[in-house]
This record gives sequence, C-alpha cells and structure tokens, in this order.
Amino acid sequence: MCTGTDKRGLIDKLHRERCLDAREFAELLTDFTDEDAQYLFSKSRAVADSFFGKRIYTRGLIEFTNHCKNNCFYCGIRRGNTAAERYRLGKDEILECCAGGYELGFRTFVLQGGEDPWYSDDMLVDIISSIRRSYPDCAITLSIGERTYEQYKKYREAGADRYLLRHETANREHYYRLHPGEMSYENRRRCLYDLKKLGYQVGAGFMVGSPWQTVDNIVEDLLFIKELEPEMVGIGPFIPHHDTPFASFPAGEAQMTLFLIGILRLMLPNALIPATTALGTVHPRGRELGILAGANVVMPNLSPVGVRKKYSLYDNKICTGEEAAECRHCLQSRMKGIGYELVVDRGDFVKEAVQEPVKKAVKEAVQ
Ligand code: 5AD
Ligand code: FES
Repeated sequence: MCTGTDKRGLIDKLHRERCLDAREFAELLTDFTDEDAQYLFSKSRAVADSFFGKRIYTRGLIEFTNHCKNNCFYCGIRRGNTAAERYRLGKDEILECCAGGYELGFRTFVLQGGEDPWYSDDMLVDIISSIRRSYPDCAITLSIGERTYEQYKKYREAGADRYLLRHETANREHYYRLHPGEMSYENRRRCLYDLKKLGYQVGAGFMVGSPWQTVDNIVEDLLFIKELEPEMVGIGPFIPHHDTPFASFPAGEAQMTLFLIGILRLMLPNALIPATTALGTVHPRGRELGILAGANVVMPNLSPVGVRKKYSLYDNKICTGEEAAECRHCLQSRMKGIGYELVVDRGDFVKEAVQEPVKKAVKEAVQ
C-alpha cells in the first residue's frame, strides 16, 4: 500500500527529473488523495507561473464542419450517427469568424472539423492562405485529422503553423477498442511524426476515463508524450454521447483529469496545455481548476451560434448558446476570479533555451 508520503516523494522526483518510470507513474496514479493532488498542483502551478506568469493564452475555435468519414465509437459526429444534423461553413463564413475573433482579441485561429473530404486540398489551401494574408500577426492551427505527408506539407506552405491531433491512446489494443478496424493506430502515430518533421507546433493528447482505459494505459500515454515531445497537450474527460456505441459508459473524472494536467506540466514545463471545454462540462469550475492545476490555455468557440449545438462530440457541452464575445468575457472574468488574465497574444511555444535567459533577465530587472 502506497502512503501519501510516497506519493509526495514521486511528485518531488517528477518535479526534479521531469519523468518517472512506468512503475512509478502507475504508483502515483493509483489511489492518490485530495491532499496528494493539492501537493502536485502547488508544484505544477508554480512551474506554469514561472514560464507564463499570470497570463492565459486564448485560441479561437472555429468548428467549420461536422461531417466526418470516420466512425470512432466515442464521438458524436461519427459517420454512423444518422441523427446528427450536418453542416459546413464556407470560406466567407470562416473568414467572418476570424474577423469577429480578431476584434475580440484572438490571435490564434483553430480550424477544427471532422475528416471531411468535401473540402479539397485546393479549398483548404485557399482558406488557409486567405487567413494568412488577412491576419499576418495571427497563428493558424489546424485540427482536421489524419492526412498524408504531402497534404500536411501543402497546408504548412499555405501558412498553417500548428496542428492538433490527439493520439487518443498510446496502447494499441485500447486504440482498437475505441476505433473501428478500418482506422489505424500506426497511421495516427505516423501523422504526428510527419507533422513534427514539417515544423508544425504539434498538439497530442487523449481522453481521460475513456471506456476500458486502465492506469497502465495512461502510463503509456504519458511515456508516449515524453517521447514525442509535443508543443501542446490537450486532455479532457471522456463524456458519453447518447447516439454513439459508448452512450452508456460513465464520463471520466474531473479530479483524474486535473491530476494528469499537473503531471503533464511537471513533465513538459513550457508546453501549451489547455483547460478544455470537456473539463468545463464535467465540472462547473473545471476550466478554472485546470488552470490552477497547471494549464495555461483556454479555447473558446468562435463558430456561429447557429451551428454550435451541431458540433456535438459529447452530451451537455457548455457554451453552445453563447456568442463568442459572451464566452470571452465570461472566461475573462473566470480567470480574473482566480488571479489570471486572458492576453492578446499568439501564444507560441517557446523553446526553454530561448525562454530561460528572458526569464532570468526579467527576474533580475525586478530585483
Ligand atoms: N468525450 C470527450 N472528448 C471527445 N472527443 C471526441 N469525442 C469525445 C467524447 N465523447 C475528443 C477526442 C478528439 C477531440 C477533438 O475531442 O479526443 O480528438
Ligand atoms: Fe462560454 Fe462561459 S465560457 S459562456
């Protein structure tokens, strides 16, 4: 039986060495108490503050299509969900979202969608390069699933800077319990490494508490993330969607998600880690608690209110009725409430070697 003191020892070691071995991670993740979690958060929050201060980056999320050719068992927009009302945004609508978002202070636009071949590469390149031209000071993030190296290269050359593609689970067997056999675990990994090769800032991640996930699976996720070294890591609780094969599984826990945010912050001190909408959905203060556990990014929605409810990956998603401005203001005051502020900034990943001297100079200047 592991005592609280053992957990503290492991947290201290993780803080010092930025990694644990598989056995130690498993021990840390098994039966931790609220006090253990508070101890972890005190470290992880201090690490986040040392890199980012009290500044929270925002990403304007544009969910531009909910058509998807895939059939992931957990996802509400899977092609097999015939009850989903499908929509697509055209180039002009996407640009309108960007214009509204820019006014509100967003300097990163995230184009997210199902895997929808209706948008040809030429169309995507046209959309990406139009945003690039109109907003040279903004980052463009894509989150449009698995593509070939050549496709990723085209989008990169058109002006995309970052790419979000959660690995979903690092365990092969678990992967095939979450996805139909027509999808491939190897291809997903190939995509992540291709994106890195092409110079994207890459976001990996996984769901917490997805069906059949074990502590050992989570350990594999952590070790995979350590190996990949993504610039961004997005994690959120699994939440069932009523029209999917996983409808009757329970949602993942906020406390486990927060604990993992804390661990990830100690592993990747300068990474960009969002307090996700899913976390805000399972707990009324999920996003605030996410920041206090070590996250430093929030991703409010810029999609037109008319389509918000249709981009339904899981049930009870928050913020589907609010205008972008309302969400930004709401988040602003939530962050203020815990001593943080939303900033108008691209919020790029900065290598530690570059960041350290800046941090040192700032520290010296205030002394
Ligand atoms: N619950 C929580 N997260 C989900 N995602 C998809 N479906 C669900 C769900 N039911 C996550 C996946 C995907 C990201 C866009 O949303 O991890 O990569
Ligand atoms: Fe969307 Fe609060 S963040 S309404």
